[in-house]
Amino acid sequence: MSESGRAASRTAVLVCQGRAAADGRAAARRFADPVAVRLLRPEERTVVEQVRAGTPPEGLRARTGYESVRACAEIAVPRTVAIDEALGARPNGQLVVLGAGLDTRAWRLAELAETDVWEVDHPASQQDKRARLAAADVRPAARAVRFTPVDFAVDDLATALDAAGHDPAAPTTWLWEGVVPYLTRDQVRTTLAALAARTAPGSSLVLNYQSPSAKASAGRLLTRLLGNSVTAGEPWRSLWTPERMAALLAEHGLHVTSDHDLLTLARALDTTARSRSSLRTGRVAVAEHR
Ligand SMILES: C[S@@+](CC[C@H](N)C(=O)[O-])C[C@H]1O[C@@H](n2cnc3c(N)ncnc32)[C@H](O)[C@@H]1O
Repeated sequence: MSESGRAASRTAVLVCQGRAAADGRAAARRFADPVAVRLLRPEERTVVEQVRAGTPPEGLRARTGYESVRACAEIAVPRTVAIDEALGARPNGQLVVLGAGLDTRAWRLAELAETDVWEVDHPASQQDKRARLAAADVRPAARAVRFTPVDFAVDDLATALDAAGHDPAAPTTWLWEGVVPYLTRDQVRTTLAALAARTAPGSSLVLNYQSPSAKASAGRLLTRLLGNSVTAGEPWRSLWTPERMAALLAEHGLHVTSDHDLLTLARALDTTARSRSSLRTGRVAVAEHR
C-alpha cells in the first residue's frame, strides 16, 4: 500500500502476465515482449508458465486466474502490435505513456532510441514498477525515461509534466492504453483537456478504450463472482462508443484517423481467438492534431 492509501494496480500485473504468456508464440512472431516476464515476481510467473504450456491448474480459483491470463494474452497481442506499429509510424522526440502500469515499451522498442519517455501512473503503481525494474536490472531502449507520478482523480497532469521536463511546445505522442475504462467520464474529460493543452501540431494520441457490451460486462461480473479479486478491486467506470469517443477527441482538436476493434486486428494477424466478446469491445484508435 502506498502513502496515498491505494495499492499498486493488479490489472497492470495481469496485462503484463498476458504479454509474458504470449511472448514469441503468437501473431506470426510480430508480437514479442521478452521484458514482460522479467517484471513479474516468481509467484506471478507460475500461471504464465501454465498458460504457455496449456496446462490449466486444478481448483476453481486457480482455474479462474489461469483463464484470466489466457484471455489477457489473446487481448494483449493485437492491442500491443497495433499500438507498437502506431508508435513506430509517429517518431516524435516525446512519448508520454498515461497509466503506464508495467508497460515495457521504453525498455524494448529500439525505435525509441531518440525519444524521451514520460511514464505517468498512479504513485502506488509507479513505486511498484520501479521496484520491479530495479530487481530485473533491465536497460531502457528509450533515450530517457522520466517517472511522473499522477493520480488522474486528484492530481494536475500539466503541473506534473511541467515538473518532469515535458515540453508542451514540441510534438508529443501520447499513449493511453488500458486505462480509460478505470476512470469516470469526468476523469477522462479532465485528462484529455490537460493533454490537449500540451499538444503541439504534429502530435498524436494512441488510445485504447472499451466500447459498451452487455456480454463483455456480464463476463467481467462473472469472473468477479467466481473470485477473481484482480478485477474486483478495479471496476470499469466508463465505456465509450467510437462515435462518442471521436466527438470528445474532436472537441480537443484531436481527429481520429483510425479506430479498430481488437477482433478485427487479431484476425488481420491470423491469431486464434476464444475470448471474442472481449476482443470485439476493446478498441485501438489513433487521433492526430494537425
Ligand atoms: C490495466 S492497467 C494498464 C497498464 C498499461 N497501460 C498496460 O496496458 O499494460 C491500468 C493502469 O491504469 C492506472 N490507473 C488507474 N486509475 C488511475 C488513476 N486514477 N490515476 C493514475 N493511474 C491510474 C493504474 O495504475 C494502472 O497502471
